[in-house]
Amino acid sequence: MTALQRPWLNKQLPLEERVETLLSAMTLEEKIGQMWQVHDPKDQHDQNVREGRIGSFLNVPRDQLARLQRIAVEESRLGVPIVAGRDVIHGYRTLFPIPLGQAASFNPETVRLGAKIAAREASAAGIHWTFAPMVDISRDPRWGRIAESLGEDPVLASRLGVAMVEGFQGDDPAAPDSIAACVKHYVGYGAAEGGRDYNTALIPESELRNVYLPPFRACAEAGALSFMSAFNDLNGVPTSGNPHTIRNILKTEWNYPGMVVSDWCSITEMINHGYACDEAEAAQRSIAAGVDLEMVSESYRNHAAGLLRAGKLRQEWIDDAARRVLRMKFVLGLFDNPYPAPATPEIFLCEPHLQAARRAATESCVLLKNNGALPLSPSGLKRVAIIGPLANAGADQVGCWAMDARGEDSQTPLAALRQSLPSTVVLDYSPGVPSSRSVDTTGFAEAIAQARAADVVLLFLGEEALLSGEAHSRAFLTLPGSQQQLLEAIAATGKTVVLVIMAGRPLVLTPVLPHASAVLYAWHPGTMGGPALADLLLGKESPSGKLPVSFPVMEGQIPAYYNKRNTGRPPSDESRGLPQGTPLDPVGFSANYIDGDHLPLFPFGFGLSYTRFEYQNLTLKSSDVRAGGVIEASIELRNAGSMPATETVQLYVRDLFASLTRPVRELKDFQRVTLAPGETRVVAFKLPAEQLAFYDNEAKRHLEAGDFKLWIGGDSRCTNEAAFRLLA
Ligand code: BGC
Repeated sequence: MTALQRPWLNKQLPLEERVETLLSAMTLEEKIGQMWQVHDPKDQHDQNVREGRIGSFLNVPRDQLARLQRIAVEESRLGVPIVAGRDVIHGYRTLFPIPLGQAASFNPETVRLGAKIAAREASAAGIHWTFAPMVDISRDPRWGRIAESLGEDPVLASRLGVAMVEGFQGDDPAAPDSIAACVKHYVGYGAAEGGRDYNTALIPESELRNVYLPPFRACAEAGALSFMSAFNDLNGVPTSGNPHTIRNILKTEWNYPGMVVSDWCSITEMINHGYACDEAEAAQRSIAAGVDLEMVSESYRNHAAGLLRAGKLRQEWIDDAARRVLRMKFVLGLFDNPYPAPATPEIFLCEPHLQAARRAATESCVLLKNNGALPLSPSGLKRVAIIGPLANAGADQVGCWAMDARGEDSQTPLAALRQSLPSTVVLDYSPGVPSSRSVDTTGFAEAIAQARAADVVLLFLGEEALLSGEAHSRAFLTLPGSQQQLLEAIAATGKTVVLVIMAGRPLVLTPVLPHASAVLYAWHPGTMGGPALADLLLGKESPSGKLPVSFPVMEGQIPAYYNKRNTGRPPSDESRGLPQGTPLDPVGFSANYIDGDHLPLFPFGFGLSYTRFEYQNLTLKSSDVRAGGVIEASIELRNAGSMPATETVQLYVRDLFASLTRPVRELKDFQRVTLAPGETRVVAFKLPAEQLAFYDNEAKRHLEAGDFKLWIGGDSRCTNEAAFRLLA
């Protein structure tokens, strides 16, 4: 075919016309070819590409991709380019904090910039498409992939998910430094029973629509170019063969024009689920459900044509799948510019990228406890002991899903503190234990001796990178290995202990708190974790992170999410603070534990700073609102301390009585506010009444008249409240 015979290459034509003209020129085999994504560029694939039998690759290095692209564009019958994907989850070479850490910033601007920088670096490596954001609501810290999530709240995950989509795709996904986003894992993957990865999820339709679907919908509406179906079985139907969620909700109800890729072999894994008896049936179910592109496994390639001929598939489903893959390629500009721009390795880890990563890490750290030990005042220090397996662990501080990071690129806390502390301060360092999981205690003696000699101990404990992420769920959430022992041994010296925790999930901190004067939770903070932590520890910055997920007192409380329902016998306040493990008489036959607290150790939204924020005068403009109206609420926020600092002001509501029981609180909005010492500001919110609506189990949306409560404050247990009524 000559260029003249390829009208779809004409950039002046409208997008849909280009797609349809190309689609109508394709054979059935070529359409099915667009529906396969391959991960290993073996030699035989050159011929497959030449024959138009592969639509996409993942994890292919830039030079190999350029070669395959040349074959696709110049040697295949229709010249359809390949789209190349890779997991660029929280950065390419410059790593930002893990997504859960970024979520603690409550800052869409920061998250958007992180994704933009990831896109810039990834596109320079020839990548067109990332498999992010992951917007699975995660209420279970045992689940290793909570690290990759944006936390437990649908409003927070929606806002930050959208920010990531915008960052990756930019104003124009075809721009050379933009890449396509992929919203995953559709849907319910984070509700894995027992927090065990890949496990069954049972989610009633109302909960699906009120909690799990909103971030996906928000990202779809923000123009995310693709979705990924998940591994899990949802209510008995694997999500990669689920017509209800994909074809009905996503493609029909939401009218989503983008493309749906399966997860890695999740189509053929439906045989293990017991939902398809063989590859052919798996292909039939997934194509019927609306999964357009098969990642890695080969069921479409091997069976789609036969299934069509046997009348088990509709031609329109194949057309729909191929059309969506092609549409994404057109929107990405691949037909117009199939080859990567000349390599620009100088942008990797360039100064602006590092500074943005440093800011993101600073904003993501959450101060959980401080009895005055922080910030450190360097002028009073003569000798500091830096102890712990994560003080100087460049590869671990970037966390999971950092395929292209290099440990040596990380700036560790040890290196950063060496630079930031005055040269007069003597600095001793020892890891104490060889790794976070190690039970070896031979390094204790050196660490204890250093602690004894120091004015203050900075202890860096937590989880190394491989303790979270895919297939890395944990059943025990206390500090792994002998770290608790190390902490206690160091604390026994009587020295002030400042504890920094790096981890991919909320850990159970109950046994930790009594031994540390201050606890700063750094998640896995990324390449620039060291300088960010030095800034925070030394008071150049005040912590501003807030928890995007509740921290349990002990594993038995899980799930400990804040937006639960009240029950008919709500847990009583008398049972608060029951010592863990002490069986007491049941307190009033209510929903308590008899041997432990029912409330989490730290609630969703919690986080301290180096100042004190005071809230007063919560005001509602009107205590009545009608459908279509807006609730206008405001509060005075004062920085009552002596440092400038940023507070995330959060607005929660409760629908007191409804035709379906509603959560005791739901976050509806939040704002980050920076105040100088002594400054007061009125923080105002406008909440559209429509946001009070909810779905029932028949997927019907309700906006019900009645009484509501509203709170504004610094975490999900805030106490400034007001009441309003939604009028009929
Ligand atoms: C993960 C996805 C990821 C894919 C490709 C799967 O195992 O679940 O999140 O995008 O692999 O690497």
